[in-house]
Amino acid sequence: MANILVTGGAGYIGSHTRYFLEQRRHRVIVVDSLERGHRELVPDGILRQLDLRETEKLSRLLAEEQIEAVIHFAAYIAVGESTQVPEIYFVNNVGGSLSLFSAMLSAGVKRLVFSSTAAAYGIPAKVPITEDEPYAPINPYGESKVMTEKILEWLDRYREFRSIRLRYFNASGAEPDAGLGELHDPETHLIPLILRAILTDKPVTLFGDDYPTPDGTCIRDYIHVSDLAEAHIFAVEHLLEGGASDVFNAGTGSGHSVKEVVDAVERVTGKRVPRTIGPRREGDPPALVANSDKLQRSLGWKPTRADLDRIVSDAWKFATRVKH
Ligand code: UFG
Repeated sequence: MANILVTGGAGYIGSHTRYFLEQRRHRVIVVDSLERGHRELVPDGILRQLDLRETEKLSRLLAEEQIEAVIHFAAYIAVGESTQVPEIYFVNNVGGSLSLFSAMLSAGVKRLVFSSTAAAYGIPAKVPITEDEPYAPINPYGESKVMTEKILEWLDRYREFRSIRLRYFNASGAEPDAGLGELHDPETHLIPLILRAILTDKPVTLFGDDYPTPDGTCIRDYIHVSDLAEAHIFAVEHLLEGGASDVFNAGTGSGHSVKEVVDAVERVTGKRVPRTIGPRREGDPPALVANSDKLQRSLGWKPTRADLDRIVSDAWKFATRVKH
């Protein structure tokens, strides 16, 4: 059992990770500005409403709560927005991270799990993607994560600051019985938008059906958010046991096309998905699938909820409880 600080714990992946940390009997403190997070996803008493750029306050909090490791989710995540106002991605994601790392160093806390992204690879030369694929982000969001990864590499080298960087593929699904699920505003992700189309009877637009893939729609690696949350538990426990810094892809190794996701939703819900085919969305690579062997081999993690119908079914249970 350890004292763990979760930044962005009022967000989608952060709230699930907080839940699984507590199941493992860790003591969790959540830091979230609530600018984009949701208070209702955090249990009473453990939320500290702070912006990560408040370095001094963070440093005091780390010391007072005797924090031993940090899991850092807090960031802006909308790829499209990052191409319209790149500067806020650098201020918030890179600036916020740097402030957090400085606060940690001054409080003597040197273990961190970082939310990185498949967007670090841009349009990869080969799929499934291994971690040695070079950094090649094609949008400011991806670049902000790469910059933060690079800071962590230097801190490892010169400050004995140990970190695990997890490069997420498509987090999806929910833990509906714990009251947790995906609540982005505005929502841009495929599965919640498909479910919303059913619930509101307004069509979802499928972005392009002329990609060089078997059915013409983009292929992604959908990883259940609870499997992803558990990857963080393995990562933070590795660091708490004195493990070395490393970087891992977090995906399932299987890809599904947009059309396959629509089919799965129809199968699981028994309802027709109202949809239209629109033009391609800028910056969407045709296929992104993780090779996650390294994470499985090194940390002993395994996705146990990888089945697409299971992911959709959990997302549906949560979506039907949220007002649209
Ligand atoms: N899509 C649609 N219609 C929609 C929304 C999405 O057809 O209304 C398609 C997209 O074009 C894409 C697929 O569904 O082919 C998945 O799109 P998402 O927006 O759900 O997810 P992305 O793959 O674009 O994004 C994810 C993460 C990002 C990360 C990126 C890496 O959410 O944070 O992978 O490229 F940057």
